[in-house]
Amino acid sequence: MLKKLSLAAVAALTLSGGMALAAEGEGHIEDVAFSFEGPFGTFDQNQLQRGLKVYTQVCASCHGMKYVPLRTLGDEGGPNLPDDQVRAYAERYEVFDPALDDYRPAKPTDHFPEGMDPNAPDLSLMAKKRAGFHGPYGTGLSQLFKGMGGPEYITAILTGYTGEDKMEAGTLFYENTAFPGGWIAMAPPLYGEDVEFDDGAPNDVQSEAEDVAAFLMWAAEPKMMARQHAGLVGVLFLTVLTVLLYLTNKRIWAPIKGRKST
Ligand code: HEC
Repeated sequence: MLKKLSLAAVAALTLSGGMALAAEGEGHIEDVAFSFEGPFGTFDQNQLQRGLKVYTQVCASCHGMKYVPLRTLGDEGGPNLPDDQVRAYAERYEVFDPALDDYRPAKPTDHFPEGMDPNAPDLSLMAKKRAGFHGPYGTGLSQLFKGMGGPEYITAILTGYTGEDKMEAGTLFYENTAFPGGWIAMAPPLYGEDVEFDDGAPNDVQSEAEDVAAFLMWAAEPKMMARQHAGLVGVLFLTVLTVLLYLTNKRIWAPIKGRKST
């Protein structure tokens, strides 16, 4: 019985992970095996650096990330850029300084700027806002192994254009299989070979999309690893504590339980 149950559980888990997702009324989203998913996952520093490049050269012309401090680009566990590169990167942007009453080049202590296109939503927290990937059967457990789905959603949006567009109320909409409703007002931002990567990694649309999605996941939750690991330590600790308490309990009651009732 127990064996049957555990087999069923394993089957449910593998099924929920391996299949394409298409909840009713929502867009079509495929699972991606990101390095940071699962209880032992970590961000891939090279992937985050590639994602930063895609973000900077493509997305930042419309979108902003105003909640993300530039200095975090130097964080270990994140893109881990050396200090001089963080400073050089910050100086790409101009920020308004109320003390100077003028614009000046950004410093690492500043945040990423706001977006230039008022219709383009801020991407700081997008990877968390659009989480909602629970596998087709919603076991909940699949989250633990497959992540929350925000970065999968972003990848799917960037790769989901069909090439069709239509004009409606003065706005051009593009058909997109991942976007709820099927029509998005963002022109396809990626065509492949949009950026050159220093590490020679592939720069087709799918790869660029995954890299920038991973980067946005880090931006939305830079301490995800620390949280996952703390959670794991907590579970282990509670497991050991439970065993010890059980044994102690047995031992305390042993003389009484062992006594024959008279
Ligand atoms: C030409 C300007 C432009 C560029 C470049 C651009 N976007 Fe967008 N983006 C938009 C606009 C406008 C919207 C709002 C679309 C809508 O709500 O229909 C949007 C929406 C989004 C959304 C939100 C979809 C949702 O669920 O609401 C995501 C995610 C996104 N963009 C990611 C990106 C990424 C990643 C890049 C870079 C690879 C990028 N965008 C490049 C203009 C742009």
